[in-house]
Amino acid sequence: MEAVELRVGFVGAGRMAGGLARGLLRAGKVPASNVLASAPSDKNLDAWQESGCRTTHCNLEVLQESTLVFLATKPHILPGVLQEIRPAVGPHHIIVSLAAGVTLQTLQRAGAMVFARGSSAGDREAALLKSLLSSCGLCEEVPESYINIHTGLSGSGVAYVYLFAEALAEGAVKMGMPGGLASRIAAQTLLGAAKIMLETGEHPAKLRGDVCTPGGTTIHALHQLEKGALRATVMNAVEAATNRARDMAED
Ligand SMILES: NC(=O)c1ccc[n+]([C@@H]2O[C@H](COP(=O)([O-])OP(=O)(O)OC[C@H]3O[C@@H](n4cnc5c(N)ncnc54)[C@H](OP(=O)(O)O)[C@@H]3O)[C@@H](O)[C@H]2O)c1
Repeated sequence: MEAVELRVGFVGAGRMAGGLARGLLRAGKVPASNVLASAPSDKNLDAWQESGCRTTHCNLEVLQESTLVFLATKPHILPGVLQEIRPAVGPHHIIVSLAAGVTLQTLQRAGAMVFARGSSAGDREAALLKSLLSSCGLCEEVPESYINIHTGLSGSGVAYVYLFAEALAEGAVKMGMPGGLASRIAAQTLLGAAKIMLETGEHPAKLRGDVCTPGGTTIHALHQLEKGALRATVMNAVEAATNRARDMAED
């Protein structure tokens, strides 16, 4: 199946759906005229129309017109939506739930996504989804049990990274550098470190060791971070977000 021939539908047309659709359109994976989004109100649909997508208030129409369907309502709405669309779901459909896993920032920027397949989704469907989502960034297929962990690591993780960037910059402000410049340098530092991690595939502990001159500035700074239990605190944060995602999925 050619990606350009695909008809992609979104049940729910809010932030997550919009971010994903923008990524697919920007990458040219699907023409806007092949994208159909549904929502009860026009609140979000106007923006879809402006980008050339088709819209409807009827969820069933999305199923009737699309092969690949993203379910992008809030989780508490989803059971009712599933009930509503069930009669229209056929074997040709690939249904993807966004109800857990990734934030809008992840979709648009940080670009780390994971998906897990249900029992009737085959290799072809998984490959197609991976090819489409890869246009928005890194995309990996994982066992379903990793989905909540991904939320704790990456979905919520962008916020921990912003907090760290803010702290880095404020340290520089404290030492006399202007805030705007400090923020830009902090962001560039995170970007550079992330690129090197991805490009080399090295364990971060090895990369960290490589930049520590004996008796130098970096090891003095790292000693302070260890005293502040940065590592244990961040591990606790990932655990807390993962557990919260798991609880929300069970609600
Ligand atoms: N786990 C994570 O890391 C994570 C992070 C963020 C989001 N998410 C998931 O992504 C999903 C969407 O979140 P969001 O932030 O995009 O929400 P959102 O911006 O509030 O969008 C929800 C959309 O669903 C529509 N909707 C409401 N009831 C509906 C119904 N009965 N049938 C069809 N559409 C309906 C809304 O319509 P209107 O336009 O009329 O309001 C809106 O377009 C959620 O399940 C959320 O849990 C997961």
